[in-house]
Amino acid sequence: MSDFARRLIDWQQQHGRHGLPWQHTCDPYRVWLSEIMLQQTQVDTVIPYYQRFLQRFPDVAALAAAPAADVMALWSGLGYYARARNLHRAAQCVVTEHGGAFPRSAAEIASLPGIGRSTAAAIAAFCFGERAAILDGNVKRVLARHAAIEGFPGQRAVELQLWSLAEARLPASGVAVYTQAMMDLGATICTRSRPDCGRCPVATDCQALLGGRQAELPTPKPRKAVPERATRLLLARNPEGEVLLETRPAAGIWGGLCVPPEIPEGLSSEAFVQALGLEVCESPRALAPLRHVFTHFKLDITPVLCEVQSRALQDPRWSWAGPAAWARTGLPAPVRRILAQLGETDLFSQPA
Ligand code: ADE
Repeated sequence: MSDFARRLIDWQQQHGRHGLPWQHTCDPYRVWLSEIMLQQTQVDTVIPYYQRFLQRFPDVAALAAAPAADVMALWSGLGYYARARNLHRAAQCVVTEHGGAFPRSAAEIASLPGIGRSTAAAIAAFCFGERAAILDGNVKRVLARHAAIEGFPGQRAVELQLWSLAEARLPASGVAVYTQAMMDLGATICTRSRPDCGRCPVATDCQALLGGRQAELPTPKPRKAVPERATRLLLARNPEGEVLLETRPAAGIWGGLCVPPEIPEGLSSEAFVQALGLEVCESPRALAPLRHVFTHFKLDITPVLCEVQSRALQDPRWSWAGPAAWARTGLPAPVRRILAQLGETDLFSQPA
Protein backbone atom coordinates (compact mmCIF):
# COMPACT_ATOMS: atom_id res chain seq x y z
CA MET A 1 0.00 0.00 0.00
CA SER A 2 1.25 3.49 -0.80
CA ASP A 3 2.46 5.55 2.09
CA PHE A 4 -0.24 8.14 1.27
CA ALA A 5 -3.06 5.60 1.69
CA ARG A 6 -1.44 4.06 4.78
CA ARG A 7 -1.19 7.42 6.56
CA LEU A 8 -4.78 8.31 5.66
CA ILE A 9 -6.17 5.00 6.86
CA ASP A 10 -4.27 5.22 10.16
CA TRP A 11 -5.45 8.79 10.62
CA GLN A 12 -9.09 7.91 9.86
CA GLN A 13 -9.05 5.16 12.43
CA GLN A 14 -7.75 7.50 15.12
CA HIS A 15 -9.15 10.88 14.19
CA GLY A 16 -11.82 10.40 11.51
CA ARG A 17 -15.59 10.45 11.94
CA HIS A 18 -17.09 7.20 13.21
CA GLY A 19 -20.49 7.95 14.70
CA LEU A 20 -22.44 9.16 11.68
CA PRO A 21 -25.78 7.36 11.26
CA TRP A 22 -24.92 6.01 7.80
CA GLN A 23 -21.68 4.45 8.95
CA HIS A 24 -21.39 0.87 10.23
CA THR A 25 -23.86 -0.36 7.66
CA CYS A 26 -23.24 -2.13 4.38
CA ASP A 27 -26.82 -1.57 3.22
CA PRO A 28 -26.38 0.18 -0.13
CA TYR A 29 -29.83 1.72 0.16
CA ARG A 30 -28.84 3.57 3.33
CA VAL A 31 -25.42 4.57 2.03
CA TRP A 32 -26.93 5.74 -1.24
CA LEU A 33 -29.55 7.83 0.58
CA SER A 34 -26.90 9.45 2.77
CA GLU A 35 -24.62 10.22 -0.16
CA ILE A 36 -27.44 11.89 -2.11
CA MET A 37 -28.55 13.90 0.90
CA LEU A 38 -24.94 14.93 1.62
CA GLN A 39 -24.50 16.42 -1.83
CA GLN A 40 -24.48 20.18 -1.22
CA THR A 41 -25.90 19.80 2.30
CA GLN A 42 -24.07 19.75 5.64
CA VAL A 43 -23.93 16.64 7.84
CA ASP A 44 -25.80 18.32 10.74
CA THR A 45 -28.69 19.29 8.47
CA VAL A 46 -28.84 15.88 6.84
CA ILE A 47 -29.07 13.70 9.98
CA PRO A 48 -32.73 14.38 10.96
CA TYR A 49 -33.87 14.16 7.34
CA TYR A 50 -32.01 10.88 6.90
CA GLN A 51 -33.63 9.39 9.99
CA ARG A 52 -37.18 10.52 9.12
CA PHE A 53 -36.78 9.26 5.54
CA LEU A 54 -35.65 5.82 6.67
CA GLN A 55 -38.46 5.54 9.20
CA ARG A 56 -41.01 6.13 6.44
CA PHE A 57 -39.14 4.23 3.67
CA PRO A 58 -37.00 1.57 5.39
CA ASP A 59 -35.86 -0.10 2.18
CA VAL A 60 -35.65 0.41 -1.55
CA ALA A 61 -38.94 -1.44 -2.16
CA ALA A 62 -40.82 0.87 0.23
CA LEU A 63 -39.36 3.90 -1.52
CA ALA A 64 -40.19 2.56 -4.97
CA ALA A 65 -43.79 1.92 -3.97
CA ALA A 66 -44.35 5.33 -2.35
CA PRO A 67 -46.36 8.11 -3.99
CA ALA A 68 -44.03 10.81 -5.36
CA ALA A 69 -45.74 13.43 -3.17
CA ASP A 70 -44.76 11.52 0.01
CA VAL A 71 -41.13 11.37 -1.12
CA MET A 72 -41.10 15.08 -1.88
CA ALA A 73 -42.74 15.85 1.47
CA LEU A 74 -39.96 14.06 3.36
CA TRP A 75 -37.35 15.85 1.26
CA SER A 76 -38.98 19.24 1.72
CA GLY A 77 -36.48 21.68 3.19
CA LEU A 78 -33.37 19.92 1.86
CA GLY A 79 -33.50 21.72 -1.49
CA TYR A 80 -32.32 20.44 -4.87
CA TYR A 81 -35.58 18.59 -5.45
CA ALA A 82 -34.33 16.90 -8.62
CA ARG A 83 -32.26 14.74 -6.25
CA ALA A 84 -35.45 13.46 -4.60
CA ARG A 85 -37.17 12.79 -7.91
CA ASN A 86 -34.14 10.86 -9.16
CA LEU A 87 -33.93 8.94 -5.90
CA HIS A 88 -37.51 7.82 -6.33
CA ARG A 89 -36.99 6.91 -10.00
CA ALA A 90 -33.79 5.02 -9.18
CA ALA A 91 -35.60 3.01 -6.46
CA GLN A 92 -38.22 2.02 -9.03
CA CYS A 93 -35.44 1.08 -11.43
CA VAL A 94 -33.81 -1.17 -8.79
CA VAL A 95 -37.17 -2.93 -8.33
CA THR A 96 -38.10 -3.26 -12.00
CA GLU A 97 -34.69 -3.79 -13.60
CA HIS A 98 -32.62 -5.38 -10.84
CA GLY A 99 -35.28 -7.56 -9.20
CA GLY A 100 -35.27 -5.37 -6.08
CA ALA A 101 -31.59 -6.03 -5.31
CA PHE A 102 -29.34 -2.99 -5.36
CA PRO A 103 -26.64 -3.44 -8.03
CA ARG A 104 -23.21 -4.26 -6.58
CA SER A 105 -20.68 -2.72 -8.96
CA ALA A 106 -19.83 0.95 -9.29
CA ALA A 107 -20.40 0.76 -13.05
CA GLU A 108 -23.94 -0.64 -12.66
CA ILE A 109 -24.76 1.69 -9.77
CA ALA A 110 -23.70 4.67 -11.91
CA SER A 111 -26.31 3.73 -14.51
CA LEU A 112 -29.14 4.50 -12.07
CA PRO A 113 -30.83 7.92 -12.34
CA GLY A 114 -29.13 10.67 -10.36
CA ILE A 115 -26.05 8.66 -9.38
CA GLY A 116 -22.78 10.01 -10.75
CA ARG A 117 -19.42 8.33 -10.96
CA SER A 118 -18.19 9.50 -7.56
CA THR A 119 -21.39 8.63 -5.67
CA ALA A 120 -21.49 5.21 -7.32
CA ALA A 121 -17.88 4.63 -6.29
CA ALA A 122 -18.62 5.67 -2.69
CA ILE A 123 -21.53 3.20 -2.46
CA ALA A 124 -19.50 0.38 -4.05
CA ALA A 125 -16.47 1.08 -1.84
CA PHE A 126 -18.43 1.40 1.43
CA CYS A 127 -20.81 -1.50 0.86
CA PHE A 128 -18.92 -3.96 -1.33
CA GLY A 129 -15.26 -2.97 -0.83
CA GLU A 130 -14.81 -2.28 -4.52
CA ARG A 131 -11.58 -0.50 -5.45
CA ALA A 132 -13.38 2.48 -6.94
CA ALA A 133 -12.20 6.06 -6.57
CA ILE A 134 -14.40 8.90 -5.42
CA LEU A 135 -13.90 12.50 -6.52
CA ASP A 136 -16.30 14.88 -4.82
CA GLY A 137 -15.53 18.52 -4.10
CA ASN A 138 -13.64 17.74 -0.89
CA VAL A 139 -11.48 15.08 -2.53
CA LYS A 140 -10.71 17.37 -5.47
CA ARG A 141 -9.41 19.92 -2.99
CA VAL A 142 -7.27 17.38 -1.10
CA LEU A 143 -5.69 15.99 -4.27
CA ALA A 144 -5.25 19.35 -6.02
CA ARG A 145 -3.36 20.60 -2.98
CA HIS A 146 -1.36 17.50 -2.18
CA ALA A 147 -0.11 17.06 -5.77
CA ALA A 148 -0.24 20.79 -6.67
CA ILE A 149 -2.55 20.22 -9.63
CA GLU A 150 -3.03 23.53 -11.40
CA GLY A 151 -6.25 24.64 -13.09
CA PHE A 152 -9.91 24.91 -12.14
CA PRO A 153 -11.19 21.38 -11.31
CA GLY A 154 -14.43 22.14 -13.16
CA GLN A 155 -12.44 22.06 -16.41
CA ARG A 156 -12.63 18.68 -18.08
CA ALA A 157 -8.84 18.27 -18.53
CA VAL A 158 -8.14 19.11 -14.89
CA GLU A 159 -10.94 16.84 -13.70
CA LEU A 160 -9.56 13.95 -15.74
CA GLN A 161 -6.13 14.49 -14.23
CA LEU A 162 -7.70 14.41 -10.75
CA TRP A 163 -9.60 11.20 -11.57
CA SER A 164 -6.33 9.53 -12.66
CA LEU A 165 -4.66 10.64 -9.47
CA ALA A 166 -7.62 9.48 -7.33
CA GLU A 167 -7.41 6.05 -8.95
CA ALA A 168 -3.62 5.82 -8.73
CA ARG A 169 -3.70 6.46 -5.00
CA LEU A 170 -6.33 3.84 -4.11
CA PRO A 171 -4.96 1.19 -1.76
CA ALA A 172 -5.18 -2.50 -2.73
CA SER A 173 -7.32 -3.17 0.34
CA GLY A 174 -9.08 -1.11 2.99
CA VAL A 175 -10.82 1.00 0.36
CA ALA A 176 -13.84 1.72 2.57
CA VAL A 177 -11.76 3.25 5.36
CA TYR A 178 -9.57 5.04 2.82
CA THR A 179 -12.66 6.53 1.14
CA GLN A 180 -14.02 7.73 4.47
CA ALA A 181 -10.56 9.14 5.25
CA MET A 182 -10.51 11.22 2.07
CA MET A 183 -13.99 12.56 2.86
CA ASP A 184 -13.10 13.29 6.50
CA LEU A 185 -9.78 14.93 5.65
CA GLY A 186 -11.46 17.26 3.17
CA ALA A 187 -14.31 18.10 5.54
CA THR A 188 -12.35 18.59 8.76
CA ILE A 189 -8.67 19.37 8.00
CA CYS A 190 -8.10 20.30 4.37
CA THR A 191 -10.90 22.84 4.38
CA ARG A 192 -11.33 25.49 1.73
CA SER A 193 -10.18 28.37 3.91
CA ARG A 194 -7.67 28.05 6.73
CA PRO A 195 -6.76 24.36 6.38
CA ASP A 196 -5.38 22.85 9.59
CA CYS A 197 -2.10 21.60 8.07
CA GLY A 198 -0.56 21.05 11.52
CA ARG A 199 -2.93 18.12 12.05
CA CYS A 200 -2.84 16.72 8.50
CA PRO A 201 -1.49 13.16 8.16
CA VAL A 202 -0.11 13.86 4.66
CA ALA A 203 1.35 17.31 5.31
CA THR A 204 5.00 16.24 4.98
CA ASP A 205 4.78 15.77 1.20
CA CYS A 206 1.89 18.14 0.45
CA GLN A 207 3.09 20.21 -2.50
CA ALA A 208 0.72 23.07 -1.74
CA LEU A 209 1.99 23.30 1.84
CA LEU A 210 5.64 23.03 0.76
CA GLY A 211 5.12 25.92 -1.64
CA GLY A 212 2.89 27.89 0.75
CA ARG A 213 0.14 27.67 -1.87
CA GLN A 214 -2.81 26.29 0.13
CA ALA A 215 -4.82 29.46 -0.52
CA GLU A 216 -4.19 29.28 -4.30
CA LEU A 217 -5.06 25.62 -4.79
CA PRO A 218 -7.35 24.32 -6.05
CA THR A 219 -7.42 27.06 -8.68
CA PRO A 220 -10.70 28.96 -8.34
CA LYS A 221 -13.23 29.16 -11.13
CA PRO A 222 -11.91 31.61 -13.73
CA ARG A 223 -13.71 34.90 -13.44
CA LYS A 224 -15.08 36.42 -16.59
CA ALA A 225 -13.05 39.46 -17.62
CA VAL A 226 -14.79 42.51 -16.22
CA PRO A 227 -15.15 45.29 -18.80
CA GLU A 228 -13.36 48.52 -18.03
CA ARG A 229 -14.73 51.95 -18.70
CA ALA A 230 -13.28 55.38 -18.15
CA THR A 231 -15.00 58.64 -17.43
CA ARG A 232 -14.10 62.21 -16.55
CA LEU A 233 -16.11 64.10 -13.96
CA LEU A 234 -16.05 67.87 -14.07
CA LEU A 235 -15.53 69.43 -10.65
CA ALA A 236 -16.63 72.97 -11.45
CA ARG A 237 -15.83 74.88 -8.25
CA ASN A 238 -16.98 78.43 -7.56
CA PRO A 239 -15.21 80.96 -5.32
CA GLU A 240 -17.44 79.89 -2.40
CA GLY A 241 -15.96 76.40 -2.61
CA GLU A 242 -19.20 74.92 -3.97
CA VAL A 243 -19.13 72.29 -6.69
CA LEU A 244 -21.65 71.78 -9.48
CA LEU A 245 -23.68 68.58 -9.01
CA GLU A 246 -26.23 66.92 -11.24
CA THR A 247 -29.03 64.66 -9.99
CA ARG A 248 -28.80 61.58 -12.19
CA PRO A 249 -31.89 60.09 -13.83
CA ALA A 250 -33.42 57.15 -11.94
CA ALA A 251 -32.30 54.57 -14.52
CA GLY A 252 -28.63 53.75 -15.10
CA ILE A 253 -25.63 53.86 -12.82
CA TRP A 254 -25.90 56.09 -9.78
CA GLY A 255 -29.61 56.54 -10.55
CA GLY A 256 -31.12 59.28 -8.38
CA LEU A 257 -27.75 60.21 -6.82
CA CYS A 258 -25.92 63.51 -7.19
CA VAL A 259 -22.76 63.42 -9.29
CA PRO A 260 -20.52 66.11 -10.82
CA PRO A 261 -21.35 66.27 -14.56
CA GLU A 262 -19.67 63.73 -16.80
CA ILE A 263 -17.53 65.26 -19.53
CA PRO A 264 -18.81 63.69 -22.76
CA GLU A 265 -16.32 61.52 -24.60
CA GLY A 266 -14.40 63.33 -27.32
CA LEU A 267 -15.06 66.76 -25.81
CA SER A 268 -12.28 68.72 -24.13
CA SER A 269 -12.96 69.82 -20.59
CA GLU A 270 -12.64 73.49 -21.68
CA ALA A 271 -15.25 73.01 -24.40
CA PHE A 272 -17.57 71.27 -21.92
CA VAL A 273 -17.23 74.05 -19.33
CA GLN A 274 -18.02 76.57 -22.02
CA ALA A 275 -20.97 74.53 -23.25
CA LEU A 276 -22.35 74.64 -19.70
CA GLY A 277 -22.20 78.45 -19.90
CA LEU A 278 -19.72 78.71 -17.02
CA GLU A 279 -17.09 81.42 -16.86
CA VAL A 280 -13.65 79.87 -16.42
CA CYS A 281 -11.27 81.46 -13.90
CA GLU A 282 -8.45 78.94 -14.17
CA SER A 283 -7.76 76.24 -16.77
CA PRO A 284 -9.13 72.81 -15.89
CA ARG A 285 -6.68 70.39 -14.22
CA ALA A 286 -6.95 66.61 -14.06
CA LEU A 287 -6.70 65.26 -10.51
CA ALA A 288 -5.44 61.84 -9.45
CA PRO A 289 -7.71 59.22 -11.06
CA LEU A 290 -9.45 56.51 -9.03
CA ARG A 291 -10.93 53.16 -9.90
CA HIS A 292 -14.37 52.08 -8.77
CA VAL A 293 -15.43 48.45 -9.16
CA PHE A 294 -19.09 47.78 -9.94
CA THR A 295 -20.52 44.25 -10.17
CA HIS A 296 -20.29 44.19 -13.95
CA PHE A 297 -17.57 46.64 -14.82
CA LYS A 298 -14.68 48.72 -13.56
CA LEU A 299 -14.86 52.44 -13.89
CA ASP A 300 -11.73 54.60 -13.99
CA ILE A 301 -12.75 58.05 -12.90
CA THR A 302 -10.63 61.09 -13.65
CA PRO A 303 -11.84 64.16 -11.75
CA VAL A 304 -11.14 67.37 -13.64
CA LEU A 305 -11.07 70.46 -11.43
CA CYS A 306 -12.03 73.80 -12.93
CA GLU A 307 -12.33 77.02 -10.95
CA VAL A 308 -15.32 78.96 -12.30
CA GLN A 309 -17.51 81.96 -11.50
CA SER A 310 -20.78 81.10 -9.86
CA ARG A 311 -23.79 81.25 -12.16
CA ALA A 312 -27.50 80.92 -11.55
CA LEU A 313 -28.54 77.50 -12.81
CA GLN A 314 -31.59 77.04 -15.02
CA ASP A 315 -31.95 73.27 -14.86
CA PRO A 316 -33.56 72.00 -11.63
CA ARG A 317 -31.34 68.89 -11.82
CA TRP A 318 -28.25 71.06 -11.30
CA SER A 319 -27.16 72.62 -8.04
CA TRP A 320 -24.18 74.20 -6.34
CA ALA A 321 -23.25 72.31 -3.18
CA GLY A 322 -20.49 73.02 -0.66
CA PRO A 323 -18.92 70.71 1.95
CA ALA A 324 -21.80 71.20 4.43
CA ALA A 325 -24.35 70.14 1.80
CA TRP A 326 -22.27 67.12 0.65
CA ALA A 327 -22.81 65.52 4.03
CA ARG A 328 -26.60 65.41 3.52
CA THR A 329 -26.61 64.75 -0.23
CA GLY A 330 -26.95 61.29 -1.78
CA LEU A 331 -23.49 60.91 -3.33
CA PRO A 332 -21.97 57.70 -4.74
CA ALA A 333 -19.05 56.47 -2.60
CA PRO A 334 -16.31 57.32 -5.15
CA VAL A 335 -17.73 60.82 -5.61
CA ARG A 336 -17.72 61.30 -1.86
CA ARG A 337 -14.06 60.27 -1.82
CA ILE A 338 -13.22 62.65 -4.65
CA LEU A 339 -14.94 65.56 -2.92
CA ALA A 340 -13.34 64.72 0.43
CA GLN A 341 -9.91 64.82 -1.22
CA LEU A 342 -10.60 67.96 -3.17
CA GLY A 343 -8.71 70.19 -0.75
CA GLU A 344 -5.70 67.86 -0.63
CA THR A 345 -5.33 66.75 -4.25
CA ASP A 346 -4.15 69.95 -5.89
CA LEU A 347 -0.57 68.80 -5.34
CA PHE A 348 -1.10 65.81 -7.67
CA SER A 349 -2.95 67.63 -10.37
CA GLN A 350 -1.74 68.30 -13.89
CA PRO A 351 -3.18 70.34 -16.77
CA ALA A 352 -6.20 68.58 -18.31
N1 ADE B 1 -20.05 13.62 2.65
C1 ADE B 1 -20.29 12.84 1.61
N2 ADE B 1 -20.30 11.55 1.99
C2 ADE B 1 -20.06 11.52 3.32
C3 ADE B 1 -19.95 10.52 4.27
N3 ADE B 1 -20.10 9.25 3.93
N4 ADE B 1 -19.68 10.87 5.53
C4 ADE B 1 -19.53 12.16 5.84
N5 ADE B 1 -19.63 13.16 5.00
C5 ADE B 1 -19.90 12.86 3.73
